[in-house]
Amino acid sequence: MSHHTTIRIEKVTLHSREKSSPKTILDDISFTSPAGKITALLGPSGAGKSSLLRLMCRLDDPDEGRIFLDEKDISDIPVLELRLRVGMVFQIPVMFPGTVRHNLEIAQKLCRTRECMSTEGLLDLVDLSDDYLERQAENLSVGEKQRVQLARVLVSRPEVLLLDEPTSGLDVMSAERIVNLIKRINKETGTSVVLVTHLLEQASALADYVALVSEGRLVREAEMKGFLKWAKMGKFKLAALMSEARNERN
Ligand SMILES: Nc1ncnc2c1ncn2[C@@H]1O[C@H](COP(=O)(O)OP(=O)(O)OP(=O)(O)O)[C@@H](O)[C@H]1O
Ligand SMILES: [Mg+2]
Repeated sequence: MSHHTTIRIEKVTLHSREKSSPKTILDDISFTSPAGKITALLGPSGAGKSSLLRLMCRLDDPDEGRIFLDEKDISDIPVLELRLRVGMVFQIPVMFPGTVRHNLEIAQKLCRTRECMSTEGLLDLVDLSDDYLERQAENLSVGEKQRVQLARVLVSRPEVLLLDEPTSGLDVMSAERIVNLIKRINKETGTSVVLVTHLLEQASALADYVALVSEGRLVREAEMKGFLKWAKMGKFKLAALMSEARNERN
């Protein structure tokens, strides 16, 4: 794929729909995820990372602000088309009943006019052998399901990949495998990636660019190198913030 896509978040605000507990989930957030690059959406638990990711494929719409794919407002793109162009990989993989092959074929049917990937060689891209095609998807391990989910999303050759904590719940080895896969897919296909993570180590190992969010606000966006320097200079209590996030999870 030669076309690289930029995602631009412009003054996005999202309020809670719960009447009993009104709350601003995202507060006037703006940043740009550069075309063909991996952007880490970094922040502690409850910062609003998943909420923001959901807006990027219109699982929700913001109350204010706009989101652009290149120069096009995503609310002007038919939702089905958008979801083929912007593939979302959820934290907890959900498989359709049936074989892995069946799971991939469902994704192919949804492609309609868009040129989709064939099942052959697709699993190789996510580091699974073709033997998996005939396996029952629901019987796979979480790590295997995560990879099948990724393959299923890749069927439509998305320009943008949204990944919500793709390695949570995985052991170190499997997590490393997923991290390498994401890198490889980004390199080989030029797909722009927005990766949600609360792990600074993962962000720094993977991402070219960072958007740091906390309590629904953008704290900083920067190239990774500059970001790490800034974090080291202690301008923001990043380590404390992140370990707080970790403790909450454990
Ligand atoms: N549909 C909703 N209705 C009400 N509040 C919500 C809704 N979705 C999210 N929130 C609240 O918005 C805040 C941000 O949630 P979000 O899931 O985006 O955080 P996160 O950064 O992804 O956290 P985590 O790292 O734990 O996944 C939280 O306080 C959450 O309780
Ligand atoms: Mg989340």
